[in-house]
Order: sequence, then structure tokens, then C-alpha cells
Amino acid sequence: MIKPGSIIRNVGITATGMSVPDRVLTNQELETMVDTTDEWIRTRTGVIERHVATPGTPASELAKPAVLRALDQRGMKPEELELIIVTTITPDMFFPATACVLQEKIGAKNAWGYDLSAACSGFLNGLVTGYQAVASGTVDNAAIVGVDVLTSVTDWTNRDHCVLFGDGCGTFLLEPIPDDRQGIIDAVLHVDGSGGQYLYMLGGGSLNPPSHDTVDAGMHFLHQEGRQVFKVAAAYMAQATTEVLEKNGYTIDDVTLLVPHQANLRIIEAVAKRLKIPREKVLINIDRYGNTTSATIPIGVHEAAAEGRIKRGDLIVLTAFGGGYTWGAILIKWGCSPHFSPVG
Ligand code: ACO
Repeated sequence: MIKPGSIIRNVGITATGMSVPDRVLTNQELETMVDTTDEWIRTRTGVIERHVATPGTPASELAKPAVLRALDQRGMKPEELELIIVTTITPDMFFPATACVLQEKIGAKNAWGYDLSAACSGFLNGLVTGYQAVASGTVDNAAIVGVDVLTSVTDWTNRDHCVLFGDGCGTFLLEPIPDDRQGIIDAVLHVDGSGGQYLYMLGGGSLNPPSHDTVDAGMHFLHQEGRQVFKVAAAYMAQATTEVLEKNGYTIDDVTLLVPHQANLRIIEAVAKRLKIPREKVLINIDRYGNTTSATIPIGVHEAAAEGRIKRGDLIVLTAFGGGYTWGAILIKWGCSPHFSPVG
């Protein structure tokens, strides 16, 4: 419930956290698994290595250290956490929600929460939803957790996509902040359901309940029409970025750092070119992590803050595109809390 007398509060990111599995899978190793080359993967995708979880690792296990790290950075006990939103397309299981599993694992016994599914745009959707809960006074804090174990739905015999993905988790802690010139400023989110035919996982749900036939047909693997997705991804991320900037009276020149979803280096470069933003103002870490789906953006922001690439008062834009189709952009004035002291 929204607390009586509540007004819309300013919301800041008061801590961040991330985690990736220890195991690093290099392009050279992939050369021994499928008909591919390090050179093809580097030049066509920008990925050099990715972190992969041991088969059977649940998303909640990757999320646990990321969230605990953010809470520790903020000096907050798990039991003080009020809301957990997990954004993922690879939950531990259909139900209970991974948010419930995580609540128990970290000892956040006073938090409620749920999972949210919007593929690679999941974290943006989670951030907007968490913002609304904190801004309205429904809760005084929320952990937004972008986590995916994409390797659990990867067909390791399919070179078209097994070279792209990695596993990871990134998290933001949201809290009300006093300064109305800081924090989460605005967001634009979009869906085009007609794009669903190009990026999907057909099996396992109510449409195709799991059976020997669905498994034999490989319907439990992610499927994408790479070229179709490629065509629209850059255009839509650039459009959403421009939309959120113009709505708030800014131009791309005002932006200190653009944090785009990391699906393909060529897509990121195309976004930068469309927006006319120099490469040094664009976060790129796809070379080390591949596409970690919901986790790319919070991992990118966590690293940028830890490296001092973003400072108090800097304008940053987060933008993503993914299955659905879903896409959007979020505008943030960084350095939104006196508590924020990033650790690597
Ligand atoms: N190694 C070597 N050759 C390969 C590989 C590989 N790993 N994969 C494909 N090829 C070959 C193809 O077979 C093809 O050969 P052909 O010309 O003889 O037919 C050739 O390379 C070119 O294939 P394309 O599919 O045209 O390659 P493209 O340059 O489009 O790159 C890729 C493919 C990387 C998938 C790209 O299209 C892409 O990044 N698409 C967008 C992905 C994305 O944004 N996804 C959204 C997020 S995911 C989510 O929401 C869960």
C-alpha cells in the first residue's frame, strides 16, 4: 500500500553489486567445441571470453553475493531490505519466484518480492518498477537484481548463438534521496510483440509443456534470428536514448556515459554512431563477459562506478533491447547518495 500522505519522492541508487562465476570460457576453448574461430567471434561479436556457471547453478546462487555486496557497501543489514525484484529469463524454476529463494538465502526476512521477465530489457523494467515502489512510499528501499544463467538454455552445438552468451548478476539498491536534481530522472519503455517470432524459447511453458518430444526438438534452448534482431536493435536503442534525453531537455552532449546492453560490439558501435557519441563515453565490457542478458547493464554501471568513470552529478543513460521485442532507456543523475562509496 502507498503510505497515507505520501508524495512522490526522489529515488537514488545508493549501492551497487555484481557477481560472475569463476569459470572463464575463452574463444579458443569454443574453437574445440563448435566449428568457429577466435577471429570470427572477436570481429563479428566483440566477445573474447565469458564467465560460465557450472551446470545446475541456480540464478539465485549468482544473485546472492551481488546483493550482499551491495548491502554491505551501503551498510544495510539484509533484514532491513523491503523489496526484492529479480529480473531474469532463467529463474531457478517456474515457481516459487527466484526473488523468494533469494530472500531466504540472504536472510532478508522482512522483504517481499517477485520476478519480472523482459529478456535483455529486464533490468530497465525492474528499475522502473522498483523506482515506482520507492518513489510512492510503498517501500523505503528495493534491491533490483538483474541475473541470468543464459548458458542453461544455450545449445552448445549451435555456433550461431553459443558464442554470444555468458552468466552473471548485477544489482542496484534504490532508496529515497533528498536532492531532486539527483537520482533516477526519467525512463521510456517499449514493447513490440510482433518481434517475438525472432527471439524466443518455445518449450517448457503452457504452449509446449515439457515432453520427450520438446526436448528432442531442442525447444528448451534459446532461439534467435540473429540478422533480424541485429537490424532493429541499434535503431531502437538509439531512438529510446534520444527520446528520454529530449523529453528532459538534454542532448547527447550532456551525457557522461552511455551504458548500452552488451549483445554485440557491432550493435553498440552502431548505437554510438547513430547518436554521434564518442566511443570513450560508451561503456563496453562485452569482450570480458559476453551477453549476460539482464545483468549487462547493472554490471556495467557497477564497474564504471568502481573505476571512477562516473562521478556525482554526471548524467548517464542506460539503454537495452531484447526479446519481446522489448526496449527502452533510463536517464540518471549519478552520485545520488552521501552513502555511495563504490568498492571494486
Ligand atoms: N563461427 C563462425 N561462423 C559463424 C558463426 C560462428 N560462431 N556463427 C555464424 N557463422 C556463420 C554463418 O553460418 C554465416 O555463414 P554463411 O554466410 O556461410 O551462411 C556467416 O557466419 C554469417 O552469419 P550471420 O548470421 O549473418 O552473422 P552476423 O554477422 O549477423 O552475426 C550474430 C550473427 C552475432 C548472432 C548477430 O546477428 C547478432 O549479434 N545479432 C543480434 C543479437 C542480439 O542483439 N540479441 C538480442 C539480445 S538476446 C536476448 O534478448 C535474450
